[in-house]
Amino acid sequence: MTKDSYGTLPKATVGETLAVMGDVFVPNIAKGVIIRRPKVVGAAEKLGLDARAISRLQKLNEKYGSGPLMLSTPEGKPMALILDPDHANRVLNETPEPFATAEWAKRKALEHFEPDMALVSHGPERAERRRFNEEVLQSECPVHGLGARFVQVVEQEANELLTQVGGQDGKLDWDMFEASWNRVVRRVVLGDTARDDHALTEMLEKLRSAANWAFLHPGHDRVKDDFLERIRTYLRRGEAGSLAGEIAGVSTNDTTQPEHQVPQYLFAFDPAGMATFRALALLAAHPNQAERAQAEIVENAGKPAPELVFLRACLLESLRLWPTTPLVLRQTTEVTEWENGTMPAETSILMLAPYFHRDDRHLDEADRFNPDLWLEPEAARDWPFIPFSGGTAICPGRRVVLTVTSHMLAKLLHGREFQLNPPTRLLSSKPMPPLLNNYDLEFQVRTQ
Ligand code: HEM
Repeated sequence: MTKDSYGTLPKATVGETLAVMGDVFVPNIAKGVIIRRPKVVGAAEKLGLDARAISRLQKLNEKYGSGPLMLSTPEGKPMALILDPDHANRVLNETPEPFATAEWAKRKALEHFEPDMALVSHGPERAERRRFNEEVLQSECPVHGLGARFVQVVEQEANELLTQVGGQDGKLDWDMFEASWNRVVRRVVLGDTARDDHALTEMLEKLRSAANWAFLHPGHDRVKDDFLERIRTYLRRGEAGSLAGEIAGVSTNDTTQPEHQVPQYLFAFDPAGMATFRALALLAAHPNQAERAQAEIVENAGKPAPELVFLRACLLESLRLWPTTPLVLRQTTEVTEWENGTMPAETSILMLAPYFHRDDRHLDEADRFNPDLWLEPEAARDWPFIPFSGGTAICPGRRVVLTVTSHMLAKLLHGREFQLNPPTRLLSSKPMPPLLNNYDLEFQVRTQ
């Protein structure tokens, strides 16, 4: 192992590298990077594994300073940890050159069902696919042009869910919520004809389970072909009022590959459902904020697609406390210079979102539910809160996500009180736990 192959940045010892593997990589890979494994999420919550990952990086930061810190990985696979907020901002802003989104491990995972997705593309191909996604998702509009239609879909499905809750003595659990959420997602992305296409969701789940293993799984080629063909059928139909309909009006060429972008829309709505359910738990445990939420809901009742600023902030807090993309990855395309030395080309760069989101050394309320954090103008914040990534590759779907999730919260909460079962599951008097297992949350719902 020559010094040159690692550049001149500080380098962790083999023991420290193994500790990072054990505290950061193994738990995240075990929980499932592309689709979560509920049992492992439950175990990780009980064992407080997410807190160990944060404190491991804090210790390295204290020892090595701002970094970036190279890990002692095998020859030919350099890997660096970002430990400094300015470095995180630099990497995000200087994407895709010299910090490409198409990082090796991410490519190997997403190849299972969307090999030509923007996130794992580079150069002119990435530019075209990013343009397409930004246009379809109207990434810079606070509320998408189809916002009113999306809110209508959410309202219909939420009403059906609440009827079901009524039939269960007011109990709401994850399985009930997820089934309803998946119907919303299929309708928003593909149209009403996809509402009950459970087979499509099952195919995607199978492909995502294989993707969790990245290059270690041979893949399900038949399922992938069938899945992509089914997506093409929906895109040909281009149902008005859905993102598939929006796609029909957006220009494409041979590079765009819309059917490889759309699986990301379907798959990434899954963590949005998790964040919504956790936000319900946060509001159940914080009566003052729940009161503010009710006031916003009442004030906006009857408007077609209002921007529910406070509820959006609650969702963003749910994602800050428990980010659904904890590992943000990049790969250098050339040698890069840093204050502390040089980093070789083809280095995988790792930013652990919880390390920044929960940094109690710098954030007064790192472990508290504080939606006001998101109500300041974005420009005033230079701390890397990155649940949707940041910089030039920021999630182009974030505003569609915030519209759909905030309205789901609004429809469920309107005039109702949600109580966690047991109420001690989350308490405003205590720090928010390092992880909240969404799969075993249960609520008792009462009309106010
Ligand atoms: C809570 C839900 C979501 C979260 C937390 C989230 C987060 C993210 C993050 C962190 C990235 C960048 C990943 C990276 O840099 O490696 C990303 C990329 C992306 N997301 Fe989302 N996302 C969500 C939902 C969605 C939805 C529902 C859509 C579409 C409807 C979407 C569309 C995309 C696309 C197209 C990219 C690729 C951007 C690019 O390559 O430039 N996301 N998302």
